[in-house]
Amino acid sequence: MSTEAKMKEISSKPKSELGGVVVLDFGGQYTQLIARRVREQQVFSAIIPCTSSLEEIRSYQPAGIILSGGPSSVYDKDAPKCDPAVLSAGIPVLGICYGMQWIAKTLGGKVEPVERREYGRTQFQAETGDACPELFQGLPGKLRIWNSHGDSVLAVPPGFRTTGKTENAIAAIENLESRIHGVQFHPEVNHTEQGTAILRNFLFQVCKVEPKWSGAAFIEETTEAIRQKVGAKQVICALSGGVDSTVAAVLVHRAIGERLTNLFVNTGLLRKNEFENTLTMYRERLALQVVGVDATDRFLGRLQGITDPEEKRKRIGNEFIAIFAEEAQRLQRESGQDIAFLVQGTLYPDVIESVSVKGPSATIKTHHNVGGLPEKMPFALIEPLRDLFKDEVRRIGRELGLPDEILLKHPFPGPGLAVRVLGEVTREHLVTLRDADAVVREEIRAAGLYQKTWQAFAVLLPVRSVGVMGDGRTYGLTIAVRVVDSDDAMTADWSRLPAEVLERISTRIVNEVGGVTRVVYDITSKPPGTIEWE
Ligand code: XMP
Repeated sequence: MSTEAKMKEISSKPKSELGGVVVLDFGGQYTQLIARRVREQQVFSAIIPCTSSLEEIRSYQPAGIILSGGPSSVYDKDAPKCDPAVLSAGIPVLGICYGMQWIAKTLGGKVEPVERREYGRTQFQAETGDACPELFQGLPGKLRIWNSHGDSVLAVPPGFRTTGKTENAIAAIENLESRIHGVQFHPEVNHTEQGTAILRNFLFQVCKVEPKWSGAAFIEETTEAIRQKVGAKQVICALSGGVDSTVAAVLVHRAIGERLTNLFVNTGLLRKNEFENTLTMYRERLALQVVGVDATDRFLGRLQGITDPEEKRKRIGNEFIAIFAEEAQRLQRESGQDIAFLVQGTLYPDVIESVSVKGPSATIKTHHNVGGLPEKMPFALIEPLRDLFKDEVRRIGRELGLPDEILLKHPFPGPGLAVRVLGEVTREHLVTLRDADAVVREEIRAAGLYQKTWQAFAVLLPVRSVGVMGDGRTYGLTIAVRVVDSDDAMTADWSRLPAEVLERISTRIVNEVGGVTRVVYDITSKPPGTIEWE
């Protein structure tokens, strides 16, 4: 991005994004969590690379700056740094883990590798008494905290005092005059007792920030910004049936009404009745203008004879792009108007440069999903959710009046049932899988487990086994039932379902789904397994 474009972007920050907290990322695994914890307190937070200029930081008019943790040692040759002017800008600073070590080293303290590294839970003792440290006000002196560090601060910089210790190390420092604080542990992780209270003390006692980041303000500002950006032009959006694209479309629809046209493609790989039900919901409950495209034959044609999972994904992705381009052209022809913008449901975690310690030039993660369109489309992008985390999108969706059936829907892979029919995807196998999958989901809902589980579905295995039904021998297909618990799909554990639920699922599938004579339950966690079978 050119400097001019960058400045334009900086100066166009929405009002509710000003006056919050800037998190400078040193590459720590918990950086996103810090930003989320801040937002949970209704304070806007933005993650930007530690190498960002002071000018860029100031463009957020931050009430506070948090320096994240990071994997390096401050003495590494390539140790990430931020502009030391951050520490004299008159803005309160909280350094967490590596952030605290960087502060200590930069301001003349002593940081060294220690013999006894501290990982995991440790006991922390805050200074108590008359001069209670600002971060620990109102908290018990002793806390169980979560640590992960090999270096330690051995001497605090001039003007600082130690405000808490673990058995082995200085664990918290402060300089009231310059309003700079540091904690060696991670207040953002749940394992740290009173972690939220510590962050709240930083936000509301030290920074005196106002809790004003709210869904309503976001919706109002975003719709206004979209209105300005779009003017009188036409906009297109590809809906996937999931929460992100739906919330994005509803926001844009709010802003510009019928100038937004949505496409919803039936790949033939959706769940039972999903295309019809979702289309009806889009049109009737959300009042969206949606062109439903039934492209089942095209997708199944492309999948004929294909068994390799990656080849399936590639073909489905390409077909989706082709259909989208054709439909966009058709719409332009029919309306006689050019489409200028494309709406995408990109979220903040997709945008954050997770390798941002390398600096602003680091590449942004790209997705290659169905519904993921190539960057070279002839449209400018509207990405109204690119500042939000998933739970925030759900909250915004709720404020926009979206029904739970979409807000609380389990994730579904872009390539759909193609990666759950193992081997070749045939019409017959899809019918079988859909019926079995409907049973799994019905029973999980009936047992009150839908919200408690991350995903619950059936997988069709092209494996035949011998059985007996009535007085006859059977030789039918196998359904694997996959139900997992997870927070973010990065790791997952198989759900310990009650035996009665498993029994009902098994009995119903064998009785109701023709051609299936055996049901197995998948008890593989991730890692080493993945959630999907292909
Ligand atoms: P795995 O199988 O990798 O899945 O443990 C993690 C999460 O991602 C979903 N998934 C996909 N989503 N396109 C998608 O949009 C894909 O190709 C894809 N593969 C897996 C999966 O359902 C789970 O939630």
